[in-house]
Amino acid sequence: MDQDLRHLIKEFLTIYQTLDINGDPAARGHILDVQNKMSTILNNDPPLQQKTPEQKPVCKHLNPAIDKGKEGPFAGLCNAVEKTSRKFRWEFGYSSMPGHLYESYAYTEVLGPDGNVYSDELILGFVLLAPQCYYPDHNHPGIEESYIGLSGECIQNNDEFVKPGGFLYNYPGKMHNLKVPAGKPCLLAYAWNAEPEVLRTYSMNFSG
Ligand SMILES: [Fe+2]
Repeated sequence: MDQDLRHLIKEFLTIYQTLDINGDPAARGHILDVQNKMSTILNNDPPLQQKTPEQKPVCKHLNPAIDKGKEGPFAGLCNAVEKTSRKFRWEFGYSSMPGHLYESYAYTEVLGPDGNVYSDELILGFVLLAPQCYYPDHNHPGIEESYIGLSGECIQNNDEFVKPGGFLYNYPGKMHNLKVPAGKPCLLAYAWNAEPEVLRTYSMNFSG
């Protein structure tokens, strides 16, 4: 595996190893599962996939978001993003989506069936949202999702804040939306955990 991408996955693993979650057993189970899968993946040294790098309009916020994130609790992962981002293919994922998202949203899959590094056990990637972006209701049937706050902040479902250093767990099928306040872009890392068949065949859709 490419050394920079390997380092990036290691930084992901370090974060999941140090997350301090009280309470929710489902979130704790998710974290353990993600840790175990990342360790196995790093040991197995999976193949790189050829991906043509691609930018989206929101990428103009990437470097400012990284710079802010390097001052925060997950500076290690932000540094790794800075080193590898030229290899990222930023995508929309949806066949149709609200017009404003074309300017204010994109994600990139680093590890996964479509990742820079192949896996059908786990997906790791990043979501970049512009200031004041509203990412509408959607869910992921059969997929557990967690978000890690790297830079800026956002609010899920009007009451769950993700700030730098923050963690949010979404059980499979949970409906969620994200809002970014004015002022700063928001960079999130995410992990999707599901059965290989689900990860390989999943397609993204907005509800309604
Ligand atoms: Fe989501």
